[in-house]
Amino acid sequence: MRIDVVTIFPAFFDVLEVSLLGRARASGLLDVRVHDLRDWTHDRHRTVDDTPYGGGAGMVMKPEPWGEALDAVIPADPAAERAEGETQRPTIVFPSPAGELFTQAMARDFSTRDHLVFGCGRYEGIDERVFDDAHTRGEVRLVSLGDYVLNGGEVAVMAMIEAVGRLIPGVVGNPESLIEESHEDGLLEYPSYTKPALWRGREVPPILLSGNHGAIAQWRREQQIVRTRERRPDLLAGDDA
Ligand code: ADE
Repeated sequence: MRIDVVTIFPAFFDVLEVSLLGRARASGLLDVRVHDLRDWTHDRHRTVDDTPYGGGAGMVMKPEPWGEALDAVIPADPAAERAEGETQRPTIVFPSPAGELFTQAMARDFSTRDHLVFGCGRYEGIDERVFDDAHTRGEVRLVSLGDYVLNGGEVAVMAMIEAVGRLIPGVVGNPESLIEESHEDGLLEYPSYTKPALWRGREVPPILLSGNHGAIAQWRREQQIVRTRERRPDLLAGDDA
């Protein structure tokens, strides 16, 4: 999978060098390219923002650098530069607190794409015309990490790249570890324990030492439901809120 990130803080993404995703990049499973939005400015101050039309607080990111950046990162005729096996238009993701909620299902969907482009906004947002214009190049998605406000999209994009990247076959060594995770079946994960069986006077639930696999599976399922009811009743209601 190819991932392009456009940002005014490329250094944020240096952490992609380490850990699982670093290995996936080194092995060629993930081709991540980070671009500095200011490379597509043409003034001495490398200006990327301006005051909002209609007034109001804060600054808005100018459309011109974004337009040029997306022109450069996404081939105008995707068919012309498609790598072998690539069949789709790119998916262009703008993190935004005003976007649709990022979920495990969305991560799974994104993990099947050939080419993801992330555009990190700062300040009060990006000129709305950039999103309309980007539709000419690919599928545009505005995506929120949750109901809180970050200073910019970089941290949200890091989270999305990690959630998506680990679902690409070969990135996580043991694919079984992906199956029994929180959110994969709409429930939170069951509690886990390892040795020693007694630690600071606290025992591991005896059922886990019983060797009865059927009973263990049933206990774990019950724990998932209890936890989900306590911590995330919205998931049981079948409600994404
Ligand atoms: N940018 C600022 N806040 C954000 C959020 N909650 N999710 C995604 N991008 C953001």
